[in-house]
Amino acid sequence: MKSTIRVAAAAILLTTTAAMADTAGPAPKPDAHGPNISGFFSPFPFQGGEAIYKGVCQGCHMADAKGAVGAGMYPALAKNENLETAAYPVGIVLKGQKAMPFFALQLNDQQIADVVNYVRTHFGNKYKDKVKPEDVKALR
Ligand code: HEC
Repeated sequence: MKSTIRVAAAAILLTTTAAMADTAGPAPKPDAHGPNISGFFSPFPFQGGEAIYKGVCQGCHMADAKGAVGAGMYPALAKNENLETAAYPVGIVLKGQKAMPFFALQLNDQQIADVVNYVRTHFGNKYKDKVKPEDVKALR
């Protein structure tokens, strides 16, 4: 019995150490990928609309962008007419909305423009007018 506890304790210790190792290392440079005023949020390294979608958005909106209903309600971005006005998704990504987190601190203007352009031209969406980084900046 005692040895079981010892093994369990060792396992917990190992897991904790591994988790700590993941977060250790040099702190990200504040301006490496865009505004990062608090130093608490680390900027996302993903570049390009597809990589940003996969790295940041698809965990909630799913790989096919059809959303999900389960522990929460994640709306579909596929064939979504709300994306027609580019400022709408830009604003949501910047500022968040209800259960959707805001990404103004983790993504720079270029990254937000890229991911919004990606979503607006994939998953059955065909909105060709491109969002520019300056458009994102203006909405911050
Ligand atoms: C932690 C989960 C989560 C992540 C990550 C996430 N979203 Fe969302 N998103 C949501 C939820 C929940 C909503 C619905 C918010 C509401 O109830 O108004 C939403 C709503 C949206 C909407 C509005 C849809 C509509 O029809 O009104 C857009 C656009 C959107 N997300 C884009 C993105 C993009 C682009 C990313 C990646 C940069 C992203 N989301 C990452 C959870 C998430």
